[in-house]
Amino acid sequence: MSHPPDATRTDRFTIRSWMPGDGAALQPAAVSSYDHLKPFMPWADAEQSVEQSEALVRRFRGLYLTGEDFVLGIFAPDGSVLGGTGFHLREGPIACRQAEIGMWIRADVAHAGLGTAVLRELVRWGFTDWPWLRLSWKCNSTNVASRRAAEKAGFVFEGEIRGEHDAVTGGRRLGRCYSILREDWEAQPLG
Ligand SMILES: CC(C)(COP(=O)(O)OP(=O)(O)OC[C@H]1O[C@@H](n2cnc3c(N)ncnc32)[C@H](O)[C@@H]1OP(=O)(O)O)[C@@H](O)C(=O)NCCC(=O)NCCS
Repeated sequence: MSHPPDATRTDRFTIRSWMPGDGAALQPAAVSSYDHLKPFMPWADAEQSVEQSEALVRRFRGLYLTGEDFVLGIFAPDGSVLGGTGFHLREGPIACRQAEIGMWIRADVAHAGLGTAVLRELVRWGFTDWPWLRLSWKCNSTNVASRRAAEKAGFVFEGEIRGEHDAVTGGRRLGRCYSILREDWEAQPLG
């Protein structure tokens, strides 16, 4: 992969790198989802301004171009933001060919199958246009929607992470780790 791919599209949504100018669409999606996000996402901020959202998307785009982190937006056909996701280099540099997927779905469209559909598309895209051999998914054991989305997208439960630092509360939590390997997906593509 000389350059990371920028986007993938389905009938229902586009997943793409955040771009300068996306802050105005990100801000209402993130702020309106605050109560839904705050139990699990340490960055949730009910007061986030459009300027702060714009600064974020510009930083995300910079990291994308330098190959340091691949943060992605999920967009509806009308251009509104449905959520965010990404391939994060939390298991080593890109040459190791493994990434952790993170995700949030806007509160008013959550729990209707979108997260699972996005995750399946990320896995398909990740094992075709990206170099990934392993994709992981980590969540709080209390996060039933996250657990189920991973399982329905074909991820294998690897085990519990005991006494893991919880960035939301600052305390400890019981985490869960899931993964899918390129060979798993090639044997049974779900995307
Ligand atoms: C986790 C998240 C990304 C999943 O996306 P989603 O669009 O809500 O998920 P889906 O609608 O595809 O649902 C996945 C499964 O979870 C179940 N589920 C959804 N919400 C649930 C809830 N509140 N309680 C229990 N199960 C729930 C669904 O029923 C479905 O399982 P099923 O088909 O067996 O019924 C989304 O809920 C979210 O943004 N949560 C807040 C942020 C977060 O926790 N991100 C993940 C961090 S690891």
